Amino acid sequence: MKAFREIRRNAVKAFRETRAPMRPLICGVLILLAAAVHGQSIDRALPVDARGPADNPTTPAKVALGRLLFWDPLLSGNRDVACASCHHPRFGYAENRDLSIGVNGVGLGDRRRFAAGNTIPFVKRNSQTILNVAFNGIDDTGAYTAAKAPMFWDVRTQSLEEQALEPIKALEEMRGHAYPEDRAVPAVVARLNGNPEYQRLFIAAFGGASPVNARNLGRALAAFQRSLTANNAPFDRYMRGDRAAMTASQVRGMRRFERVGCVNCHSGPMFSDFKLHVLGVPDNPRLTESDSGVERTYQFRTASLRNVELTAPYMHSGVFQSLEDVLEFYDDVDSRRSGRARNANVSREQLDPLLRRLRGVDDDDVDLIAFLSALTDRSFDRTVPDRVPSGLAVGGKIQQGK
Ligand code: HEC
Ligand code: HEC
Repeated sequence: MKAFREIRRNAVKAFRETRAPMRPLICGVLILLAAAVHGQSIDRALPVDARGPADNPTTPAKVALGRLLFWDPLLSGNRDVACASCHHPRFGYAENRDLSIGVNGVGLGDRRRFAAGNTIPFVKRNSQTILNVAFNGIDDTGAYTAAKAPMFWDVRTQSLEEQALEPIKALEEMRGHAYPEDRAVPAVVARLNGNPEYQRLFIAAFGGASPVNARNLGRALAAFQRSLTANNAPFDRYMRGDRAAMTASQVRGMRRFERVGCVNCHSGPMFSDFKLHVLGVPDNPRLTESDSGVERTYQFRTASLRNVELTAPYMHSGVFQSLEDVLEFYDDVDSRRSGRARNANVSREQLDPLLRRLRGVDDDDVDLIAFLSALTDRSFDRTVPDRVPSGLAVGGKIQQGK
């Protein structure tokens, strides 16, 4: 049933798209074929507003508080790392380095290093962008449930409210050796409680007798991140009816994206089904142990492709430097000659069937790359606060030499 509806929708869409006499027919047939094989298409812009869960509606006071918390290294054990240390507006709220350096790091992005005498390991994965995380979990009908939104490369946490406390507890991200894991959040809450400015801001945002608590800390960080949307990319404008918003090459790339089968996993308005798949992406050589993903099966969540142009390097392990490298990876799986998993711990049989169904990937497909750049919206909020209530360095030790 669903597949049939898709086919009809596509055919109607193709007819509307062009007025040239023969093209609707040719296009329609091609898309019908693609849809019949794959049953997926992309035809939906991101919503204009991001909804929070019922128990945490977004308000300006929460967003303002969340922003300060996001930039304040007071949330880390040694007061040296902020959320913004690894999710920086300069890099589309991700980072231009393969694996994150948290505790004991100095500098920003690919210039970030461990300070002398370091005993802290790298964070084992590549930092994800938090632009549009408000929409994590959105399906191809545009529906999503903020309280159940999947988080992280391995979907180990649900909702931004819950996710926000995890980095505070993680040894290599923000905790360090300052306190044991189960004391991390209470210790940070106690610091916030001891700061009169934070006390005032929590009262303004949440009211109540003692609003400075772990729950509201998560809620404020969530509300701020939900405000970081970038939903006016050329693709969004095109889908809302502005047919001049994408170039001819980008439109060709979009069709290619559907035809070769990228859309089977990168579907819906976020270009992710938010499901787990085995691709056999290589491990990062900096790690001492292979990262085997969910349940040691090498499953990872489909990455959103929104703003992907801004967030190199790529994949959970950050091993691909460019989008061309990513296409070469898919091309390699596609090619009959090798058709192998690139990660030595993954057998060909383990690879996701949808991956093995890719057909016609070309690693210098300029149209496909052009299409991926049609998913970029640079108009997002890049505000860096002038100061944070703790008086510590804004963003942590991200200025070289400080
Ligand atoms: C040391 C670097 C670092 C710091 C500090 C950090 N993060 Fe992250 N963040 C990452 C990495 C790496 C991932 C992916 C981790 C994984 O999937 O295992 C991530 C993932 C996320 C995600 C999930 C995005 C998605 O699409 O699933 C959110 C949301 C997030 N971080 C928010 C925060 C917040 C809020 C803070 C501060 C409380 C923070 N991060 C601090 C590196 C960092
Ligand atoms: C079988 C499902 C599947 C198919 C088919 C697929 N992808 Fe992916 N894609 C994923 C998953 C899962 C990840 C994350 C994998 C990881 O990090 O280990 C990913 C990651 C990516 C990334 C990296 C994003 C980032 O932020 O790191 C890009 C770019 C990408 N895919 C593009 C494509 C293109 C282009 C195609 C078609 C040629 C395609 N994908 C086909 C599932 C798929």
